[in-house]
Amino acid sequence: MLPAEEAAATAALTVSEVGVHFGGVAALTDVSLRVLPGTVTGLIGPNGAGKTTLFNVISGLQSPDRGSVHLFDNDVTTMKPHRRARLGLARTFQRLELFGSLTAGENVQVGLESAVKWWEWRRLGRSFPRKRRAALPDDAGVGDRESGGPGSVAVATSDRLLEGVGLAGLGRQQASAMSTGLARMVELARALAIAPKLLLLDEPGSGLDEAESQALADLLVRLAAGGMAVLLVEHDMELVMGICDYIYVLDFGDIIAAGTPEEIRSDPMVQAAYLGVMPEGGTLVGHGVPGREAVRAGEAELQRIAAASGRDGPPGGAPGFEPGGGR
Ligand SMILES: Nc1ncnc2c1ncn2[C@@H]1O[C@H](COP(=O)(O)OP(=O)(O)O)[C@@H](O)[C@H]1O
Ligand SMILES: [Mg+2]
Repeated sequence: MLPAEEAAATAALTVSEVGVHFGGVAALTDVSLRVLPGTVTGLIGPNGAGKTTLFNVISGLQSPDRGSVHLFDNDVTTMKPHRRARLGLARTFQRLELFGSLTAGENVQVGLESAVKWWEWRRLGRSFPRKRRAALPDDAGVGDRESGGPGSVAVATSDRLLEGVGLAGLGRQQASAMSTGLARMVELARALAIAPKLLLLDEPGSGLDEAESQALADLLVRLAAGGMAVLLVEHDMELVMGICDYIYVLDFGDIIAAGTPEEIRSDPMVQAAYLGVMPEGGTLVGHGVPGREAVRAGEAELQRIAAASGRDGPPGGAPGFEPGGGR
């Protein structure tokens, strides 16, 4: 086997030369990347760079104009989202996609027990607007712990999944009453319900406080240590630099840099364009992990650059709980 073929066979995800246009706007021009099992791979870049669009292409919610997507050695480029999920792909959304009227536990059970999975959210949002339990079919087998039926297994499993993401004992809390940080962890627990081989996380750190962020970091490292391939879109540079094995930088729909956190940190183009650290007297400064203040300053600079170039600003308002919200 040629080295290139061998590499393609062992990667959990291989994206090759993907392009996506929306009308006249090129959201992705020519994107190639790989995510290996047992690693956390970062995908960073300013708002409007195309990160969510790439996640939609990988998960099957958006067809690419060109290029291909492989999950392990399966070409899934034209495959429906639910079939990709069967191959072990799970994702979370930039805007939370939880059923606000259901409890945390029920949200996870939806991922576990029924045919209702992340690729159905949009359709369900239209069919089952905010009715308690409406999204759970009668025969979903999800019942109370006391019932002793198959539902009790679902409850026990969802409890375990919630515990795994640090939400032990919170299964009965209504999702819409939870803080963004906790709700994001519920969404993550639901994604983990299918025991994914490849996990796509779209800004899971947004809305998390420092302790929650640290807990998320620990969890992702543990998941990768267990063999999972994790692709992480995240603006929190401390989180990204702290846990990623490898990082891709996307800008205007193109990968402008790729490497280890150390390489990315010291890449002049990334420093100037993304981390907000400008050259000083011809030499680059700030080679350490940027602190939160520096990250905020960098983010502000990015928003300014994005605004000046007519791209999207930051996502407005608090994340929504409505199924079928923006992504
Ligand atoms: N459904 C869509 N229709 C039209 N343009 C879109 C759509 N989705 C994204 N875009 C545009 O594609 C570009 C990339 O967006 P996105 O993938 O959301 O970037 P990111 O997640 O990096 O912030 C932006 O210019 C955005 O406005
Ligand atoms: Mg996005």
